[in-house]
Order: sequence, then structure tokens, then C-alpha cells
Amino acid sequence: MKNTIQIAPSLLASDLARLADEAKALEVAGADLLHLDIMDGHFVPNITFGFPVIEALRRHTSLTLDAHLMIEDADRYLEDFAKAGCDWLSVHVEACPHLNRTLARIRELGMKAGVAINPGTSLASLDAVIDDADYFLIMSVNPGFGGQKFLPSALPRLRDLKKRIGTGKARLQIDGGIKKENIGEAVKAGAEILVIGTGLFSFKDYKEGVTTLRQAAAV
Ligand code: DX5
Ligand code: ZN
Repeated sequence: MKNTIQIAPSLLASDLARLADEAKALEVAGADLLHLDIMDGHFVPNITFGFPVIEALRRHTSLTLDAHLMIEDADRYLEDFAKAGCDWLSVHVEACPHLNRTLARIRELGMKAGVAINPGTSLASLDAVIDDADYFLIMSVNPGFGGQKFLPSALPRLRDLKKRIGTGKARLQIDGGIKKENIGEAVKAGAEILVIGTGLFSFKDYKEGVTTLRQAAAV
């Protein structure tokens, strides 16, 4: 279990005016990938950043860029995210009416394809694409903002989804309110990719933060 987990800092909680330095510091600290929260002010009530910022960041890091699209009409922008340098792309099941096609297109563009699901959406909505995604992102907060409180209902949802995946290859990502106090439970419930914003950036020393979280995850 210890070896398969990946720590994915959510850059939303970083100093966005110093993105290149933050990415470098996270790389040195031992982060596995960088999580980019893309919000459009429609699917979620907040707006973050887009292609020019991702392109600029791409020039300064070799870490995997994992973009979490909290946007409507994602299909329209898949190619742009690939061109901007994203390696992984997750779309929300609630926002994608042609999910199989969307996932196939993401893979065709050379990225890993993920499906994110809100806390209030039935997991049965993922059954039809259970073998078509590289990872599933269980939201443990309602998306839109960093720094929210972890919803414990995410834990049985991770276990349930793991069962639904069965012998399939898809991995589980969790996002929202993860910190050293609950990361172990999330891993036990089946999460392998841990997105962490405030729970990591509250450490002054990122290396100490990543190490502490990794140790807390190794249960
Ligand atoms: C919420 C985002 C998360 C968020 C995580 O909509 O998808 O990635 O930034 O931040 P924390 O860990 O602070 O909840
Ligand atoms: Zn996210």
C-alpha cells in the first residue's frame, strides 16, 4: 500500500503569483503530481485559471500535471488541455452527457482519463464507464473551493466504488479536506491518489508536509 499511494498537491492552495517556485519546491519535497483545479464559474461557483497558466507552468516542471475540470462543456476544450501540457484529465460525470466518448477522446489525445463525482451523485452513474477510465475521483467536499471540511461519507463511497471496479485497472483518487488526520482512513478505504490543498500548504516546509502525510498514509 505504501508504494502505490501518490501525493497530489492542489495548487489552488499555493502562492499562485509564484507558481514556478511552488512547483519546484513541491518537486523537491517529493510530491508525485500536481493537481490543477479548473473552475468555470458555471459548473461550480468559482473561477480559477486556464490554458496560459497551465502552459507557463508546464515549462517549469516535469511533474505530471493532473487537471480536474470543474467546467461545463468539457468536450470543447479537451484538445486545448492536451496542448497546454496536461498529462491527466478528469471530467465530472454530472457535466458530461457523452461520457464514454469524452473519455475515449482524452485517451486519444494521449492523456490519462479520469471521472470525478460529487458527494451527492449516485455511484451507479459510473457503472457504464467503469472500464473506460484510468481513475475515478471521489469528491470528499462539494467542489468549488479549497479549505472545506472533509465529508466522511466519502469513505464508504470509496469502498463501494472499489467493489464496482472489481478486477478492473482504474485507480481511486480522493479530493477535498484531506489532511494528516484523515489520510490514513482514505487510503484504507481504497484511495491511492491523494489530492491535498490546505492540509499540505499549511506546512511551512513542504518536505516536512509531504513526508508527514506519506507517513500518515502508510497504515
Ligand atoms: C475543490 C478542489 C480541490 C481543493 C482541495 O473543488 O477540487 O482540489 O482545492 O483543497 P483542500 O485540500 O484544501 O480541500
Ligand atoms: Zn480538485
